[in-house]
Amino acid sequence: MTNIAARPLRHSEIIGLGVHRASRIVLNDEIVGPIDSSDQWIQERTGIKQRTWAPADISIIDMAVDAGNKALVHAGISAERLGTIIVSTISHPYQTPSAAVLVQDRLGARHAGAFDISAACAGFPYAVGLANGLISSGESDYVLVIGVEKLSDWTDMSDRGTAFIFADGAGAFLLGPSAVPGLGATIWGADGSEFEAIVMQPSLIELREHFKQTGELQFPKLRMQGQKVFKWAVGGMVEVCHRALEAAGLTPDDIQAFVPHQANNRITDALVRGLKFPESVVIARDIILTGNTSAASIPLALDTLLREGQVKSGDLALTVGFGAGLAYAAQVIRVP
Ligand code: UT7
Repeated sequence: MTNIAARPLRHSEIIGLGVHRASRIVLNDEIVGPIDSSDQWIQERTGIKQRTWAPADISIIDMAVDAGNKALVHAGISAERLGTIIVSTISHPYQTPSAAVLVQDRLGARHAGAFDISAACAGFPYAVGLANGLISSGESDYVLVIGVEKLSDWTDMSDRGTAFIFADGAGAFLLGPSAVPGLGATIWGADGSEFEAIVMQPSLIELREHFKQTGELQFPKLRMQGQKVFKWAVGGMVEVCHRALEAAGLTPDDIQAFVPHQANNRITDALVRGLKFPESVVIARDIILTGNTSAASIPLALDTLLREGQVKSGDLALTVGFGAGLAYAAQVIRVP
């Protein structure tokens, strides 16, 4: 038997961060009318004071390219050196081709393979875990991971359960090879039996049938059983976070920042209580001014902490994403 050449296993690290913040600031007062809500209720239940939406002429590709370019510039790596581009999104309006190939073209990443993943609010740590595997195995030297959403396009502004929560934006990490580990193992999982807890409905096939029968054109929108998702996240993610810390050989005392998916400030509060962090650990609260940007929320929240000087390059942060699927993923990262 002839052997296939072995490639040495190696480590990976995050070497660049870039974000795109959607330009339109939407205050609670602007959206409460159709859902009979109030600024006070939204702030008390979620922490959200405002959310950022992209204008009509800005696509998820525009946002992803901007964030991706900034991550490349931050790392000082040209797009031509990218081996892979992974885009995590649930708001790309085409079934095919992927958002990632459009990003690949716009960035001029001539040598990169490109694909999307669909893991909703868990998508960013899912993609970071994949990037780590590609680099560790020697498949790619540099992997660009982008979380991007334009959820304002997919939200029913008359739905009391979702209209106030979702938002738009993009965030990117550039990962490359490293002599020492720059990431802990990714702890991930899913429970597809609960797929109806957050779902984009109706399906395109159902919409086509509805149109044939009624002549009425509808659009799929996000639906969420908020309380169910809330209880699942609060009940399960503390253990997932503990496992991610343990897999990295760390305890809550060893990290400098906690950057959970920005789903709801009350979920973050519950996780912080459960994880018993020391006072010194900085907690990301980007949801207050940005809203819930699903796959983009973790890099956007980390960017805010860096800009504010609350974390610095080299710090250790615990990240966790959770949402539709129901899917989750957590890992410890070294801040670029
Ligand atoms: O990012 C993906 C993952 N997503 C999440 O993690 C989201 C998880 N879920 C949540 O964040 C929360 O469930 C929501 C913020 C979506 C909702 O908050 P809640 O505390 O679970 O609200 P609820 O559905 O239990 O409703 C509580 C009360 C009800 O009134 P009563 O029965 O107590 O009198 C609702 O009728 O609030 C009322 N209510 C509202 N009031 C004003 C429900 N929606 C609204 C609203 N405005 N939009």
